[in-house]
Amino acid sequence: MKLHRRHLLATAAATFAAPALADTSSQPAPAPSDPRRALFDDGWKFAFGHLDDVSKDFGWGADLRTYAKQGPDATPAAKPDFDDSAWRSLSLPHDWAVELPFVPNPKFANPKPDDWDPAANHGFKPLGRDFPETSVGWYRKVFDLPVDGKRTSLEFDGVFRQATVIFNGYVVKTNDGGYTPFSADLTDFVNTDGKANTLLVRVDASLGEGWFYEGAGIYRHVWLTRTDPVHIPQYGVCIRAKTDGTVEVTTTVRNDSDVACATELHTRIEFEVDSRSSVRIDPWETVDIVQTIKLAQPALWSLGQPAIYVATSVLGDPDQTIKDQTATTFGFRDIRFDPDNGFFLNGQPVKIKGTCNHQDHAGVGSAVPDAIWTYRLQCLKDMGCNAIRTSHNPPAPELLDACDRMGVLVLDETRMMTSSDQGLDQLRTMILRDRNHPSVILWSIGNEEPQQGTERGAVIVGTMKCLCNELDPTRQITAAMDGGYGDGITSVLDVIGFNYRDNKIDDFHAKFPKIPIIGTETGSTVCTRGEYEQSDARHVVPAYDTVAPWWANTAEVWWPHFDAKPYIAGGFIWTGFDYRGEPTPYSNWPSISSQFGAMDTCGFPKDNYYYYRAWWRPEPLLHLFPHWNWEGKEGQTISVWAHCNCDEVELFVNGKSAGRKAMQKDYHLEWQVPYAPGRIEAYAYKAGQVVLKDKRETAGPAAKVILTADRTMLSADGRDCAVLRAEVVDARGRTVPMASNLIRFDVSGGAAVIGVGNGNPNSHEADKASQRMAFNGLCQAIVQMGSGTSAVTITASSDGLAAGKVVLKG
Ligand code: GAL
Repeated sequence: MKLHRRHLLATAAATFAAPALADTSSQPAPAPSDPRRALFDDGWKFAFGHLDDVSKDFGWGADLRTYAKQGPDATPAAKPDFDDSAWRSLSLPHDWAVELPFVPNPKFANPKPDDWDPAANHGFKPLGRDFPETSVGWYRKVFDLPVDGKRTSLEFDGVFRQATVIFNGYVVKTNDGGYTPFSADLTDFVNTDGKANTLLVRVDASLGEGWFYEGAGIYRHVWLTRTDPVHIPQYGVCIRAKTDGTVEVTTTVRNDSDVACATELHTRIEFEVDSRSSVRIDPWETVDIVQTIKLAQPALWSLGQPAIYVATSVLGDPDQTIKDQTATTFGFRDIRFDPDNGFFLNGQPVKIKGTCNHQDHAGVGSAVPDAIWTYRLQCLKDMGCNAIRTSHNPPAPELLDACDRMGVLVLDETRMMTSSDQGLDQLRTMILRDRNHPSVILWSIGNEEPQQGTERGAVIVGTMKCLCNELDPTRQITAAMDGGYGDGITSVLDVIGFNYRDNKIDDFHAKFPKIPIIGTETGSTVCTRGEYEQSDARHVVPAYDTVAPWWANTAEVWWPHFDAKPYIAGGFIWTGFDYRGEPTPYSNWPSISSQFGAMDTCGFPKDNYYYYRAWWRPEPLLHLFPHWNWEGKEGQTISVWAHCNCDEVELFVNGKSAGRKAMQKDYHLEWQVPYAPGRIEAYAYKAGQVVLKDKRETAGPAAKVILTADRTMLSADGRDCAVLRAEVVDARGRTVPMASNLIRFDVSGGAAVIGVGNGNPNSHEADKASQRMAFNGLCQAIVQMGSGTSAVTITASSDGLAAGKVVLKG
């Protein structure tokens, strides 16, 4: 395995390691090493509690004395001798919602024509007040801690939702929000008598925050952090790097002890560039130390070459006694939104070719392994996408690390537009956590909020903006608006976000020529991968770029408009990937996911992906569709489309030209041809020469499974994952376009299938399984390598078909 430079940092517990330009490849990379933190994902037990029945909720709240006294007797499951042998063992991240069956709400068993089941929003998972047995989860972990005078805390990256953290019987934290990280200080409650410590986390997912699938449980990483009493607290390093090489580093140092301390803060970027400052800090005091470091000619962070630097911060004497140390990644780049000319990165105009995305993936729900973030970003980059909007919540930290590493811009969004204490806390945490990421270019403080056009909205956003500016004067704020343009919050925002309403943009620009504009939600074609005829009975929509909800436009309507107007900074389509919940356009059972994506829930491209790829990437592209298996439709007219960015395309049907047509920038070409089995073939011309060919042939019966992996060299760390694609082909290797064969995934040992999917928005098959029906020829398995595994073979088999195989190496 190639040694990532950050690995060097991981080994640097007592001496300075080699901070350097980090690897920018698309391989999953470890988070910047912090010797104080250890992943705390393994060794958990899990059981369902109950929303209403105390006896099934491990006695929680039994006698109105839940918070009366703290300590091991406070609640039964906190006792060291509590018998959790019936609880299930698992590792995080964990989303229990994805493990549950799909269940329509029994209240809607006999729906009237206009009835709509609210369970649809969350993808028909049995969560909420109507499902008390599956809405509360308990996590328990018993573990040893040394008694060595260090401070100990737990950092939770995200728990959905309402977490109560109980350590040795003491409630050390409650946290409501499902997307905001939080930490719990355990120090005072650690057992000092040599006995193991008991940690409990009660998670109540009965109240949702979104109108989309949100998962349930401890669905992101947990970290155990141990520091000297004199230490740099979480998010305690703020780095502002200018393109001339000037780096201003503000480091917070905290003394959580009764003894005053004189020490030194040593910050280093690269081997030879550093800064030392003396620090005197009184007991229980916090100080901020500002250091300025100058690098000669830094490599800039850009989309093509996203150079990442690592700063190491050491408290104490780096050559002798180190009290505390941490590492922070950052980049040198300059950003600017201009009302006339859009967005600029390092002085160059960059049109934002973005996608909005929720955070769930096929097979795993919201418990997304780090490697899947990289896979998803690579899918988006391959399409030509250069930016993501983390709708509608702060993302997993690993997604931002991947964006830094892979050169993808981020519109980072807080969950709630409110200046309540809780709203400001969530906003504060997002900014403190994310402000060092060069990929983050703008903060979004809300989405389609009812107060957007009102005076109250302006007041609320004014308060939020003050906080943003105080914590991060280097970035501006926007909000995704779907009305009230010109009123309410308009005057407070730095950049106006348009959700749809493309026809109002030109007028707005004329009226407010000094306000930059970005499309926060733009094109939103609904389409089903591999389907070319609408069927209300089957809940499928054709994959031609023809159907969009009333509030949105197709790709070919929004993009030419945005592309032609330099003053629009660009836009984010709704969405890059289909997501669970909010089924659209069919909002009722049996549909369980949306169909907005350019890709399905697995990341398999729909045809619209190629529209974007043609006009968002520079390489010549030709994509011909639909498939050519129309048995029973002989002689009937089929609409044949090409997405292409060359000069002309000629279509041949069974060898005969059906016409050569000129491409118009940002549009597609189309022919109406009678169906006869055989093949359609397209030639793309540039300057009169054929540069690309594409064809679709009438496939024969399914004969074999072709299995491929996104990566075959993995880290054998028990966490890394490969994404496997199983494709059903005929005897001549041609995709069988409507194949629905059941594919079984067998693993030779040392690895596990942790989820399967096929992108079918109406499938109720289990995600947590080792088999899946193909949907229109394809399905997916996510395989996680076991710890220490050197090689594993995965076989994809199906009755009557030759099996496919893939070998993964650790
Ligand atoms: C928008 C909303 C998104 C999603 C989308 C569906 O109004 O901001 O979250 O619901 O509509 O079209």
